[in-house]
Amino acid sequence: MKHAWNAALIAGAFSLLPLSAQSADIGVKAAHLPAKLVVGHRGASALRPEHTLAAYEKAIDDGADVIEPDLVSTKDGVLVARHENEISGTTDVAARPEFAYRKTTKTIDNVSYTGWFTEDFTLAELKTLRAKERIPANRPANTAYDGQFQIPTLQEVIDLAQRKSKEKGRTIGIYPETKHPSYFKAIGLPMEQRLVDALHANGYRGKKAPVFIQSFEVANLKEIRSMTDLPVVQLLSGSGKPEDFRLSGDSRTYADIASAAGLQEVATYANGIGPSKEMVIPRDAGNNLASPTSLVRDAHAAKLIVHPYTFRPENPFLPANLRQGNPASPSDRGDMAAELEAFLKAGVDGFFTDDPAIGRAVVDALPKKERK
Ligand code: G3P
Ligand code: CA
Repeated sequence: MKHAWNAALIAGAFSLLPLSAQSADIGVKAAHLPAKLVVGHRGASALRPEHTLAAYEKAIDDGADVIEPDLVSTKDGVLVARHENEISGTTDVAARPEFAYRKTTKTIDNVSYTGWFTEDFTLAELKTLRAKERIPANRPANTAYDGQFQIPTLQEVIDLAQRKSKEKGRTIGIYPETKHPSYFKAIGLPMEQRLVDALHANGYRGKKAPVFIQSFEVANLKEIRSMTDLPVVQLLSGSGKPEDFRLSGDSRTYADIASAAGLQEVATYANGIGPSKEMVIPRDAGNNLASPTSLVRDAHAAKLIVHPYTFRPENPFLPANLRQGNPASPSDRGDMAAELEAFLKAGVDGFFTDDPAIGRAVVDALPKKERK
């Protein structure tokens, strides 16, 4: 009955709003989401510890259209929201004597990590941990929330998005990312079917549903495409290659995928791309924004939407000439709005940001015909 209830809830939430204008010529347009999407990256992670329900709720309250859970698996096969499966950087696990013996070293995507891993914990065990701020030097105010929030499950994130959709009278989308999919498949905890089943069971079906499934790997997105027609987004890094390409000996790199020809191939299984922001507008020798590349134009020619990552308000993450206060300060905030304006001018269809309130204000200042 839970599934039927959720389907009814989501239908109820969606019916609050009229159908938006469709931009059917490019990629995919969720029926009840605007054309220019503000994606709360790991929640409003500039303002709350990332990947907590508090961070996601803050993102929504600050105007995000979509919230972004990165997903990893527990030992008992539950999808939970964490950026990494090694959790010492974002939880208090290292301070828990009862779990000290689980500290270990593993190779994940060809990199060695020492710490504590979600796949070695049941959900019940993970729920005893508490989140903490990942980058306290950049976000000292967030440390006030250390120790308060649990690791949420995918289901809890979905429940929040659906509850807040009703509460706000607008659709809140979700943008789940499979993290380390080849690794989790290799250890017997594949994520793809569980993710698709969870989305379908919660009423998300069809290419206009307010969902974007993302991955830095290729094979698992193609696998997901075979399971569902929900929107799929290929993430692109500014360097290197997808882990599944490395494992299979495929010589192609992210740069190859981002070429005009590569994007035409992406369009056979995906609806959009999520590039690093430097792939859209590189930095010049002075670390200021240079001229846009052809990526947006090439992606749109392939009918792919473009959602770059990640827009962060603190000085170290901004172009040199947009830093404010003490330019060398790790925590002083600069003019992220000006950075976003440049990317919207370059034609992006939305963006991942750690501070959705700033993104909301920038998008809302666009002419209505550009953002609806
Ligand atoms: O998924 C878009 C963006 O979040 C990719 O980078 O490392 O923050 O997951 P990451
Ligand atoms: Ca992500």
